[in-house]
Amino acid sequence: MKKVQLTETVLRDANQSLMATRLPYSDYEGILADMDKAGYYSIECWGGATFDSCLRYLNEDPWERLRGLRKNLPNTRLQMLLRGQNLLGYKHYHDDVVEKFIELSIKNGIDVIRIFDALNDFRNIETALNSVKKYAKEKTIASGCISYTQSPVHTVDKYIEMCKELKKMGFDTICLKDMAGTMSPYEAENLIKGIKDAIGDMTLILHTHCTTGMAYMTITKAIESGIDVIDTATSCFSGGTSQPSTETMFYALQQYGIDCGLDEEIINKVNDYFKPIKQKYVDNGQLNPKSLATDAQALVYKVPGGMLSNMIANLTDMHAMDKFDDALAEIPKVRADLGYPPLVTPLSQMVGNQAVTNVLVGERYKNISKEVKNYIKGEYGIAPAPIDPELSKKVLGDSMPVDCRDEDKKRTGEDFTNAKEALGDLCRCEEDIMSYICYPDQTLKFLQNRKAQEENEAVYTIEEM
Ligand code: CO
Repeated sequence: MKKVQLTETVLRDANQSLMATRLPYSDYEGILADMDKAGYYSIECWGGATFDSCLRYLNEDPWERLRGLRKNLPNTRLQMLLRGQNLLGYKHYHDDVVEKFIELSIKNGIDVIRIFDALNDFRNIETALNSVKKYAKEKTIASGCISYTQSPVHTVDKYIEMCKELKKMGFDTICLKDMAGTMSPYEAENLIKGIKDAIGDMTLILHTHCTTGMAYMTITKAIESGIDVIDTATSCFSGGTSQPSTETMFYALQQYGIDCGLDEEIINKVNDYFKPIKQKYVDNGQLNPKSLATDAQALVYKVPGGMLSNMIANLTDMHAMDKFDDALAEIPKVRADLGYPPLVTPLSQMVGNQAVTNVLVGERYKNISKEVKNYIKGEYGIAPAPIDPELSKKVLGDSMPVDCRDEDKKRTGEDFTNAKEALGDLCRCEEDIMSYICYPDQTLKFLQNRKAQEENEAVYTIEEM
């Protein structure tokens, strides 16, 4: 029997896409024991924006959350999303920090680490991969992830080449990450057939979003073309900017005679559990119903939805909405000049802002943002295609581009020493240090709160006696 397995994303990507990752652990702890029996390929529950959100908004220790998930989901693979050398942030960390982060993630309960780089510069995911291999337990899976985008240089052949490279590097599975939901059924068919031919029986995963309305068609074609795993979200947290619905895909797959290993009763129970939770956040405004709608603009304008709304907000702020059409037309030109980077954070913002600047200033690249300069210098990695030579010369002058890996490779241990020093007696474990390295201000505040809370409780207990 043909088999396609499902990764449930409600705890991470659906939560992140629909409600800015504001679900506290206490909201869903009560359903974890059931979810453990559902039969998912994995549950995506950590990484991405969850770490930042725990510390910044939810007064939760992200590591504590992970241990809770592990305890209540003993039989299910716990999955996280990792931004390669950037871990869960936007800057490159030193290799020793990346290694420690992965050691602690596995130690605290993660099984599947999905690793990507915004530019698909695989040098930026190599340290993470090697660290996973170093600290791997029996069930650990290193998943190599490709940021999917469309451009003249992103051909099927190019993607096949990338997959072969990921396989050669030693990844256990490969994931195609269509973050903007712009992969069409036609593209999925060509891509997945080509990749499957090239990588043999290695597990291939498709991650997409319903944003433009294409996801169900695309997934159906992907299944016909040999995909092994798809990402879905329990139905009340599906659709819009989130993933397609778990129960719907289960129903459709069943009729095809495709086994996805899910327990129908349990996946329905999971959805029943999350319905009132969703309603709570719709009512308090944290879940904007707009994010549940279909928005095909990304297909018309060839830019992700988030990027477009960002641009409209910027232009409105500057009372320059009359330049909207010009700015829109400038985006593909800037992207071409920069060597067709995938339009994913932070590159989508960089390209969008530069396009707006070019139009508003009235002269292309008269003003170049610091971020774009750093990108041209090579600090983010190697662009998918050569950067426009004239633009490159304008930024670099006579100097050579830098190798973004040179700085990463310095294993001085100073990040750890500095964090320890900054935290003083607030620090109790390596996890505290790692949180501080990733999000210093938020972690300091969180740990100060923790200490104050405990002291209050201690006083209270003594008085009670
Ligand atoms: Co996603």
